[in-house]
Amino acid sequence: MSFSLIGTGSAYPARRVTNDELARLVDTSDEWIRARTGVYERRVLTDESLEDIACAAALRALEDAGVAPRELDLIVCATIRNDYITPSLACLLQKRLGAGCMSMDINAACSGFLYALDVADGYFARGRIKKALVVAAEAMSKMVDWTDRATCVLFGDGAGAAVLSEGNDLLSLRVTASGNAEHLGIPNIEGECPFSLRAGKPQHVYMNGQEVYKFAVNALCRELEAIIDAAGVRQEDIAFVLPHQANTRIIDAAAGKLRIGAEKYLSNIERFGNTSAASIPILMDECRRKNMFHPGDLLALSAFGGGFTTGACVLRWCKQS
Ligand code: UT7
Repeated sequence: MSFSLIGTGSAYPARRVTNDELARLVDTSDEWIRARTGVYERRVLTDESLEDIACAAALRALEDAGVAPRELDLIVCATIRNDYITPSLACLLQKRLGAGCMSMDINAACSGFLYALDVADGYFARGRIKKALVVAAEAMSKMVDWTDRATCVLFGDGAGAAVLSEGNDLLSLRVTASGNAEHLGIPNIEGECPFSLRAGKPQHVYMNGQEVYKFAVNALCRELEAIIDAAGVRQEDIAFVLPHQANTRIIDAAAGKLRIGAEKYLSNIERFGNTSAASIPILMDECRRKNMFHPGDLLALSAFGGGFTTGACVLRWCKQS
């Protein structure tokens, strides 16, 4: 027994920040950002909390699925940075939704949504749960260095959610990790221990863009090939690919190497930037609400990110539009 995905939801802050606004903060331009990344604007948290948008996405997914919070057996949140180190975002949501189930966060950076699906899949396989809520929510704006043009133009805030029930619509799923803090990372607070001999580091995203770019193109291609193969289907059978929204050029470069038509790669990066773990579930929810998916469609999801991590799966869409 695995799962079927029976509801989706998404939410994001009200505040749009355009490339032109960023060009007033750092030495950049709308032209450079569009050409190098595909991003036109992103959403940024102002007076909302991460919990607010995570909760709004979760409620939309629950409504879409016709599932009440009390029916949930598991909540898994994927996030790099909850507002609290403890309690977890999942525990905060559990209280706010009025659910009563076990709840936990996982951090697999931009691959977090796929890792969370994998965690939920294990509980379904062991017969421990009948309904699960997976929420990916990120507050990247709290972690970027707003004086660093090489990173601050890339990211945005947002949340996406999915409700899962017992079923057999997950055809294959694979997650990987290869530890690397050299090329991409965000240091945590060092603390104030009087015995510590370590100096704290700035708590900002640091990235070697070109190294991450190479890793990303390879990972996207390799994992899509592997996961489609593991599902026992052909690349031509995939109805849509939902790639992590990090950079249009990464998606285009990977698409050029596979036998899946370019028109099948979905994207909304122009309006959201890179929302880390939330990017795939936000994209999925948008497309689902535009009735783009039909029962029986095979969707291939593929993410890569900090860690380095990757996550990919093939799902059969089971909902009527
Ligand atoms: O979610 C996973 C994590 N992240 C990613 O997947 C990101 C992967 N990397 C990338 O997407 C790309 O490497 C970037 C978009 C980050 C950068 O694009 P690039 O084509 O690799 O640019 P670059 O780093 O080679 O920089 C080219 C030039 C440099 O100037 P010089 O040295 O040629 O004079 C940069 O200083 O562009 C400059 N530059 C900028 N110029 C204007 C870097 N950022 C900016 C900027 N505006 N925002």
